[in-house]
Amino acid sequence: MCGIVGYIGTEDAREIIISGLTRLEYRGYDSAGIALYGSESKTFNIYKDKGRVAHLESITDFSYKSCLGIGHTRWATHGVPNQANSHPHTSEESRFFIVHNGVIDNYKELKSELLTENKFYSDTDTEVIAHLIEKFSFEMNVDEAIRKTMSLLEGSYALAIIDTKDESKLYACKNKSPLLLGIGDKGIIVASDLMALVGYSKEYIPLKDKTFVEISGNDYKILDIIGKVVKHEVKVIDVDYTNIEKGEYAHFMLKEISEQPSVIRTIITKYFDGEEVILNGKVKEALEESDRLYIIAAGTSMNAGSVGRELFEKMAGIPTEVHIASEFAYNMPLLSKKPLFIFISQSGETADLRAVLVNVKAKGYRTLTITNVKTSTLAREADYFVEIHAGPEIAVASTKAYTAQIAILAILAYGLSDKHINLRKELSKVAISIENVIDRREYIETLVKEYLTKRNCFYIGRGIDYYACLESSLKLKEISYIQTEGFAAGELKHGTIALIEEDTPVIAIISQRDISKNTRSNLNEVKSRGAKTLVISTKGVHEHDDQIVLDDVYELFSPLLTIIPAQFIAYYAALHRGYDIDKPRNLAKSVTVE
Ligand code: AGP
Ligand code: GLU
Repeated sequence: MCGIVGYIGTEDAREIIISGLTRLEYRGYDSAGIALYGSESKTFNIYKDKGRVAHLESITDFSYKSCLGIGHTRWATHGVPNQANSHPHTSEESRFFIVHNGVIDNYKELKSELLTENKFYSDTDTEVIAHLIEKFSFEMNVDEAIRKTMSLLEGSYALAIIDTKDESKLYACKNKSPLLLGIGDKGIIVASDLMALVGYSKEYIPLKDKTFVEISGNDYKILDIIGKVVKHEVKVIDVDYTNIEKGEYAHFMLKEISEQPSVIRTIITKYFDGEEVILNGKVKEALEESDRLYIIAAGTSMNAGSVGRELFEKMAGIPTEVHIASEFAYNMPLLSKKPLFIFISQSGETADLRAVLVNVKAKGYRTLTITNVKTSTLAREADYFVEIHAGPEIAVASTKAYTAQIAILAILAYGLSDKHINLRKELSKVAISIENVIDRREYIETLVKEYLTKRNCFYIGRGIDYYACLESSLKLKEISYIQTEGFAAGELKHGTIALIEEDTPVIAIISQRDISKNTRSNLNEVKSRGAKTLVISTKGVHEHDDQIVLDDVYELFSPLLTIIPAQFIAYYAALHRGYDIDKPRNLAKSVTVE
């Protein structure tokens, strides 16, 4: 995953790179590093270590002027997070410095076939790239050496490269991993994400796969792998990141949970004209013309997709399948005659989804991306895109993007339905009901202290509640590290019930009238075996001793509401264990490796 930033120009490279890395830290936070050219001393220095960007800042020498540099914030794929494995990496004779986002699948073969004599200092796949560029630079120009290296690399990469023999240039190239070129009056930036460019560049160029860029001063050349000029589109940066402060909240996650009512209201203002849904005509047409929808997603977005399937099938009568992106990419099922692929992704950058997108586009199928980031790769590359308008989501654990994705899926399904409900009214009701839960968060905190006392936990539910359980358990495990499983309530007795011990917490989500009794009997089964049970139910199906009773909303929209106490349960469980809520261990916000 990782974030990379490179700069060449007349401004302070260090400031631009460190501020860029801080903004990109959501992409990985195992280690951070920076290489800088000192304009007066005419020397290159590397500062890097395990840990966050704030630590990097504390070990970087700020005393000299630098107008050229590259930086990296890492999410380790090859080699543990330590100083040696942190980027930038250097070539054998230290002529080239590189930072890399991605994974080189054939790095072992390249090492054993082409670099047998070389000595390596890290366990990364990345170091091979630096060594190859240097090897080829003995026989050809640097740009050719880089492009020759690109032609040998299998896998994904976004690279920023410095040649220490020529401080007037910065090089970059990419395949699969995202990379943008930011163009400003006082220099050029290369970065993994637009966020790093805001405030420094006015325009940007999203680089295409297998392109190479040579930057000198304010000039740049974009070439393909054989050196042919590549046409590119210059876009204006019109994004504002002023609202990415935590404000009065202790954590971004708490802020983002609390923003959900206003996100739903924003979506209503964006997608309704009075009581009528406004859908992009082409999107509507693509949905109507398809005989089956294939939702492709990962993690939380996939859990939203599962709710989406219920909405498309039950509201609009369109057969829908939901697939794990990383499975679908290499194990495609038989497709219908006129499929429409719907990619759901908060970040719009998830590599597993992009692998599917590239594949199905090449086969000529139509594609739609539902995302929070309109400038993202998946938004750009799909035939159509729909924005979820959740606003920047900073906490690694996704909350408001999940509810926004479901609200958008509801709007799309409704647009194709016989409009038997007043959607605007139902969504507004949900927003108010979410507010009611937010107001009771302190009570939920007391329940967490009482119930979440063990190393493991289960969420159980049936039907659409089961999908809410999957998301609830993902939230809890990813930030509190409590081993949690979301389970179809009726399936528990077929084996997994063996794990229930005295005081194992089992949380049931019950919002569906037709199956609430069945879930309650499954709850009794675990209770009889010692489980400590907690019920999240909605009015109408609740019982007097249920711990969390929510408002009664339109049944198919219940995951928009039942998830809110579950998000708080996760938040408080992590808070009381003293964990880093916004940046949980081993994770990153944007998963740009397969
Ligand atoms: C959510 O809490 C997770 N951190 C993760 O599962 C995430 O939803 C997944 O990586 C997909 O990301 P995307 O929505 O940006 O594609
Ligand atoms: N594969 C490289 C590494 O493990 C880069 C990972 C990243 O994208 O952060 O260091």
